[in-house]
Amino acid sequence: MTYSDGTRAVHAGLPEPVVGEPFLPSPVFAAPYHLDPVEGPGQNDYARTQHPTRRQLEAAIGQLEGAPTLVFASGQAAITALLLSTLRAGDTVALPSDGYFTVRAFAQGTLRDLGVASITVPTAGPYPDFAGVRLVLLETPANPGLDVCDIEAVAAAAHAAGALVAVDNTTPTPLGQNPLALGADVVVASGTKALTGHSDVLLGYVATPDDAVFAKVETWRKQTGAVPGAFDCWLAHRSIATLDLRLARQTANAAAIATMLLERPDVTGVRWPGLESDPAYAVAKAQMRRIPGVVSFDLGTADRVARFLTAASLVFAATSFGGVHTTADRRAQWGDDTSPGFVRLSCGIEDTADLVADLKAALDEA
Ligand SMILES: Cc1ncc(COP(=O)(O)O)c(C=O)c1O
Repeated sequence: MTYSDGTRAVHAGLPEPVVGEPFLPSPVFAAPYHLDPVEGPGQNDYARTQHPTRRQLEAAIGQLEGAPTLVFASGQAAITALLLSTLRAGDTVALPSDGYFTVRAFAQGTLRDLGVASITVPTAGPYPDFAGVRLVLLETPANPGLDVCDIEAVAAAAHAAGALVAVDNTTPTPLGQNPLALGADVVVASGTKALTGHSDVLLGYVATPDDAVFAKVETWRKQTGAVPGAFDCWLAHRSIATLDLRLARQTANAAAIATMLLERPDVTGVRWPGLESDPAYAVAKAQMRRIPGVVSFDLGTADRVARFLTAASLVFAATSFGGVHTTADRRAQWGDDTSPGFVRLSCGIEDTADLVADLKAALDEA
């Protein structure tokens, strides 16, 4: 039986029912476990390598992404684990020029120092010939500009050149997009955002059906140690149960807000891939299962963004995105190369009418 998203999210990674036991077993707080004095190491020996709460979360995410999964202490820990375990001196990696800026900074610092070259490509293309590229990392929709790329087409071109293809699936989540089904070899993501959605956990993961890549990343994690703790794994797993509901409201809120923003002459550069007028619409509609709740726009100046955020009651000034609370971030304050008035708005799960009214009033006041 194939279940739909709401059912899959609620049941993801749950063990078979056991009378007298909870639906989702409580977190196991242990570093070492008792070993069999005769047999030695077993399924649970030491938490950096084996952890039952972590395995349950990995089963949940793995079911949603469609491949064996390794979770990490943050999205960056997951992405850097993939890069460092698959790239060698002399290799070249292709990165999005408009994706999460810390990945580019890592490539231009640590990877360059290790002899790994990087090239950057805008998510919307055009894509270069990938001859000589070892790994292509895509991020679609890209954070924060929300351009998208055709995963299937880029993966085919990259594979023809012998490159491995990874997709950062942070913004859509596996209920919004399935890169592995579209031809990617690996999914990397921050689970800190919409996947867990309550702004209380840092998490990352790598999911891949490629046994060799999985083994490399697993060994990397075991030997470098960036594992999430038991409580964070449990919180994340508990939160995934509501993913379908949260995404549905976030998407509905984003649709209403993007439409409202488009009509305002005092707001420019509105981007939301679900708007028919958006340059990303055609590809997003064809390859995504739903459009995420993140909208970007420009208010012109840092001052105007500050006035907007001060006037809004339902929009918290905060970085990150994908949570149940609506938040907005003036990205230039973090040093990424957006314009001073550029805002990334992350729609929460508040009531749509309340949110639209609050935003309108705050924009009027700003
Ligand atoms: C697209 C994307 N990938 C990766 C990351 C890194 O995730 P984390 O902050 O969990 O390390 C972020 C963080 O904002 C992100 O937006």
